[in-house]
Amino acid sequence: MININENFLKLQAGYLFPEIGRRVRAFSQANPESDIIKLGIGDVTEPLPDAIVTAMHKAVDEMSVRETFHGYEDSGRGYDFLIDTIIENDYRPRGVQLDHDELFISDGSKCDTGNIQEIFGIDNTIAVTDPVYPVYVDTNVMAGRTGDAIDGGRYGNIVYMPCTAQNNFVPELPTEPVDMIYLCYPNNPTGAVATKEQLKKWVDYARTNKAIILYDAAYEAFISDDSIPHSIYEIEGAKEVAIEFRSFSKTAGFTGVRCAFTIVPKALRAYKTDGTPVDVNPIWNRRHCTKFNGVSYITQVGAAAVYSDAGKQQIRSIIDLYMSNAATIRKSLTGFGYKVYGGINAPYVWLHTPDGIGSWEFFDVLLNKANVVGTPGAGFGAAGEGYFRLSAFNDPAKVAQAMERIAKI
Ligand code: MLT
Repeated sequence: MININENFLKLQAGYLFPEIGRRVRAFSQANPESDIIKLGIGDVTEPLPDAIVTAMHKAVDEMSVRETFHGYEDSGRGYDFLIDTIIENDYRPRGVQLDHDELFISDGSKCDTGNIQEIFGIDNTIAVTDPVYPVYVDTNVMAGRTGDAIDGGRYGNIVYMPCTAQNNFVPELPTEPVDMIYLCYPNNPTGAVATKEQLKKWVDYARTNKAIILYDAAYEAFISDDSIPHSIYEIEGAKEVAIEFRSFSKTAGFTGVRCAFTIVPKALRAYKTDGTPVDVNPIWNRRHCTKFNGVSYITQVGAAAVYSDAGKQQIRSIIDLYMSNAATIRKSLTGFGYKVYGGINAPYVWLHTPDGIGSWEFFDVLLNKANVVGTPGAGFGAAGEGYFRLSAFNDPAKVAQAMERIAKI
């Protein structure tokens, strides 16, 4: 008899975004004439910049010639030309020295943040912010690191760290011991950022308690405030205790192309149950190269073109366009009397639902009355109830239209 992994049966609703998609499809089928504006899932809408497209076309041509054809990539960790370019552009200017073999190219931060837990013991206690990007929680549920579902969509054996307006959406240190701490800044879904001082507290905590920080920096390109760190490695000692995840998805319009990277510093240690320290980097390398055959050559060439002069300029103007949408959303909603957060250093605006109505109820109101799709805060965790997320990824004219429609309700 084949047994199922019963941990999967603990999972509550379907994954958030397919569930939203299902509801939107049902609405569209019932109202075929409706013109829906999607500010729900953070999916980019602008096409790939020219510099990237040109580089990828050239890479396709190389693939068509025997002499320049690329099959499997030797290391499976990523081509040197991309890894070097990332280190030189994203890290060295911020005073972060990284070795080549500390960086792993992958097909997405969703996969990496979901897969990373595999290399850590099943008895570790995880700590997540609430609200949280659901992948961190669901993958630990699947792995069996949590208890059963309890009230409000939470699970047993997880330490939830509420992030509310009171703490500026940056959690307090936990009062009970935790081992794997998931942090995401700029934050999805609240759009909040963490200062160097706030991150230092976490790094110090992890160093003192032999914990690890899993730092999702997928939205760092949207930071506009110069004082905000882009990488956790800007904090002294972080290389001993943190893994960082970065993505080209939102930065360069790669949601449909797929390219990201993860940094596992060689200074990072985890421990055997007898307390013996173990280097984490070779363990992730082993896992990565066993289960993954690398991102396509064409995609990696496209990712490297993000750092060309033209690429940098072109992605900057796209990011500016999305951030002007975020400003429009913030300004309009504030004008309508909503209390809003985020949207300044992140492409997400987080708002209080009006009159304290439930976040799924507000989702339905917005969909039915304004034909606008957002994401209910409760979908990100119990502390997200009473909040709602609007994404800035859309065409400015559509965002303006969405705001006009919301004004009417
Ligand atoms: C989101 O909308 O939260 C993100 O787009 C989801 C993702 O990046 O997987």
